[in-house]
Amino acid sequence: MTRHFITIEDLTREDLATIYDRAVSPFDDQTLKGQGVALVFERPSLRTRASSSSAVHELGGYVTFFGDEEIGLDSRESAEDVARTLAQMYAISALRVRDHRVFERMRAATKDAMSLVNLLSDTAHPTQAVADVLTIAEHFAGGDVDQLRGLEVAYVGDATNVTRSLAVALLGLGANVTVAAPPVYQLTRGGAEDPFAVEGGSLTLTDSPDEAVRHADVVYTDAWVSMGLEAETERRRRDFALFQVNDALLKNAKPSTVVLHCLPAHRGDEITNEVIDGENSLVWRQVFHRRSAMLGVLRWIKKEEHD
Ligand code: CP
Ligand code: NVA
Repeated sequence: MTRHFITIEDLTREDLATIYDRAVSPFDDQTLKGQGVALVFERPSLRTRASSSSAVHELGGYVTFFGDEEIGLDSRESAEDVARTLAQMYAISALRVRDHRVFERMRAATKDAMSLVNLLSDTAHPTQAVADVLTIAEHFAGGDVDQLRGLEVAYVGDATNVTRSLAVALLGLGANVTVAAPPVYQLTRGGAEDPFAVEGGSLTLTDSPDEAVRHADVVYTDAWVSMGLEAETERRRRDFALFQVNDALLKNAKPSTVVLHCLPAHRGDEITNEVIDGENSLVWRQVFHRRSAMLGVLRWIKKEEHD
């Protein structure tokens, strides 16, 4: 059966366990030997493109990159016809899309002939969440993702696509997640990658960053202005002014609390230089694990053939 990696919530615990395990597996394999992976980006990227490309190469395959201008998803031709075309040449397409619903349309159009990987949509960023879990497990549990039960993770800022996938992944592993956001920017129920539907750790919502970080082992933040929302920049800067992750906020946390950020960082907005460059910042290890995460996802997609 064709495997897709579109949200964390779609995957069974066993699937996720395989992905986490194979992400850090030391063995050298040629899972994708001679095979192409299509990379389609409707939005800009550094880490996701770099980690996808290098992971495919590591597994013996090659990538073909398609940018927004070139493909024109639903402008030059429909997402369905893009998918039907790619499926003639590639067994796997990995996409960064504006609208999460494109994945369902592509699955239907190709009758699941091609594996799809979500490299960020408006509601989910699951490859990022895998990297975040690996980073947190490495720091707190010697790499054992099954030992994150009871860990306290505070997310401060805009409840984004990154927040949703992170929360779904961590709650499923028994960690407790607190999201501090102004009420209109808080997590909402329903839709793809719904943290409210996960059984496991506890999910707490607050509008107080101080309260959120008080017992936190991890403090996480993301951009106040996600891609596509640039017209709201000034309003968002005002609305999130009290949600900056800075030294003053972290004085309320434990000295051992670590800081994560998916990047790109907007230094001086959601995070300060002193924090992101400080000794408790794990952001570069997160970047390292973006590649690990892609190795895990690609090996899992090919697992049956590989075993
Ligand atoms: N974190 C992340 O997805 O970074 P890019 O947008 O640079 O890929
Ligand atoms: N929430 C951000 C994440 C970037 C990696 C965005 O969607 O732009």
